[in-house]
Amino acid sequence: MINMKHMKLLYTGKAKSVYEIDSDTVLMEFRDDLTAGDGAKKDTKSKKGALNAEISAKLLELMEDNGIPTHFIEYQKPNRHVAKKVEILPLEVICRNIATGSLLRRYPFKAGQKLSPPIIEMGYKSDEYHDPMLNDDIALALGAASSREELDEIRQITLKVNRVLKDFLLPRGIILVDFKLEFGYDSSGKLLLADEISPDTCRFWDAGTGEIMDKDRFRQDLGSVVEYYEEVKRRILSQI
Ligand code: TMP
Ligand code: ASP
Repeated sequence: MINMKHMKLLYTGKAKSVYEIDSDTVLMEFRDDLTAGDGAKKDTKSKKGALNAEISAKLLELMEDNGIPTHFIEYQKPNRHVAKKVEILPLEVICRNIATGSLLRRYPFKAGQKLSPPIIEMGYKSDEYHDPMLNDDIALALGAASSREELDEIRQITLKVNRVLKDFLLPRGIILVDFKLEFGYDSSGKLLLADEISPDTCRFWDAGTGEIMDKDRFRQDLGSVVEYYEEVKRRILSQI
């Protein structure tokens, strides 16, 4: 087990802290903190960090098994990942299969409307500016991406993540409503899927009952956040 006391803290986000292991590797600590509304609403729920770390480890391994390169190296119980150090692009790449959340506040979609083909949206990662939606010209002018080809590659990988994740979750009784991805470059210049794939960064609905099983339980004050994350973990780890 790595002793974090002697490690340099590289970054503290709203739900994770990142420490340097060496020049190529980091330790990501998944904390119990929950935020919504770009940090405006905050709480701490015991076990949430560990649940997200374990769920995310399994889902990032699933991506690797399907030929999608990620930064993930190893899960360390209860709430840590060893990962490749990457230069994160300031992009929030969102993929939507069903209309809900901020899409309904911004456009006249019907709640629950199926989006086929899925919608991909890119946001500029900034709490101060509330992650404003980008088009390719803005992303390039801001330097958030370096070329149109890079943006196309990110969109293609995101669509593949969507297909793999949807097909994995549905037999486990989970509908993948939408999710957010982040990408980064490792020291050799390879583009990797980074960050996490968890109920904090995805919307999951129970396929039988339609119940919300993700961070919307916190955003909408529905209660039992940890209990639903536990259920997501149970289904994701189940051998079916
Ligand atoms: P939205 O409907 O609020 O735009 O969210 C779309 C998806 O992206 C949803 O699964 C939650 C996720 N998301 C994050 O993980 N972090 C964020 O900062 C935002 C805005 C959304
Ligand atoms: N806006 C993010 C979310 O609701 C969290 C946050 O920014 O505090 O997922």
